[in-house]
Amino acid sequence: MKEVEKVGSIVCVGTGMTLGAHITPICRSHIEQADVVFTSAHPMIEQWVQTMNANVRTLQRLYAEGKDRRITYREMVDAMMTEVRAGKKVVGAFYGHPGVFAWSPHKVIEEARAEGYSAHMEAGVSAEDCLYAHLGIDPGRVGSQNFEASQFMFYQRNIDPSAYLILWQIAIAGDKSIKRFSTGKAYRQLLVELLNEYYPLEHKVALYECPTLAVEPPRIDWIPLKDFAEADISLITTMVIPPVKKMLKNQQILDRLSALDKKLQ
Ligand SMILES: C[S@@+](CC[C@H](N)C(=O)[O-])C[C@H]1O[C@@H](n2cnc3c(N)ncnc32)[C@H](O)[C@@H]1O
Repeated sequence: MKEVEKVGSIVCVGTGMTLGAHITPICRSHIEQADVVFTSAHPMIEQWVQTMNANVRTLQRLYAEGKDRRITYREMVDAMMTEVRAGKKVVGAFYGHPGVFAWSPHKVIEEARAEGYSAHMEAGVSAEDCLYAHLGIDPGRVGSQNFEASQFMFYQRNIDPSAYLILWQIAIAGDKSIKRFSTGKAYRQLLVELLNEYYPLEHKVALYECPTLAVEPPRIDWIPLKDFAEADISLITTMVIPPVKKMLKNQQILDRLSALDKKLQ
C-alpha cells in the first residue's frame, strides 16, 4: 500500500529568461496557488513574481561575495524545507529552467520526497534554449555539449570538436574556492590554453547574453578564442564554441548497418 503523502509540498518552477515572456502557464499557476514562493532571479523578475503571489521571499539575499556557494545553496534548500515541513504549499521559482545548472531545486525535491512530501519540477526556458534561438543553432545538426567552465578545467573531459561546445559560468572559470563572483584574466587565459588543445586561437567563439527585457537585443559577440581573457564578461555570459572539425564517419558501424539492411531485403 502506498504511504499517504504528508501535507506540505514543493514545486520548483522556471520563470524563463525574459521578463513576462517565457513563463509557462503551469509554472505561473503553481506560483499563483502557492502559500509561499521563494525566488532566485534577477530583481526585476522577482518583482514581477510578486504580482502573482502576495507571499514571495527572495533567496538572492543568501548570496555573498566570499561566502562558499555550497553554504548558500544548502541554506536555500533549508529555507524551502522549513515551510514544506510546516505543511505549506511551497514553490521555488528559479530563473531560466529550475533544473539547469542549479543544485538547490534538485536537492529540495530529493529531500522533500525522502521525507514523504509531494515534490516535483516544472520545466522552464533556459539560457540554452534562448541561445539556440538567438544564434540560430540547431543542437541536432552536429550535436552540442554543455559544461560548467570550472568543472571543464578541473577534470579531464573528452570533448568532441565536431560538435558545438557551450561553456557556462565562464565569469568564475577556475574558482576552486566556490566563493568568488569573478576570477580574472589569468584564470580565463588558462581556459584559453586548455581550449587551444582543441581549437585554434583564431577560432571564433560567441559570448552570449539573453536579455532580461524583451525590448533589449541579446548580446552576441563573436571574438577569436585568443581574445577571451581580455573580453568583457559578466556572471550571465555563456560561451558558445562552434565546431572546428568535420564529423568523421564510423565506417565499421555503417558496414554493419548495411549488412543488416541486406538481410531485410
Ligand atoms: C547557475 S546557472 C543558471 C542557469 C539557468 N538555470 C538557466 O536555465 O539558464 C548560471 C549560468 O547560466 C548562464 N546564464 C545565466 N543567465 C544568462 C543570460 N541572461 N544569458 C546567457 N546565459 C546566461 C551563464 O552561463 C551563467 O553563468
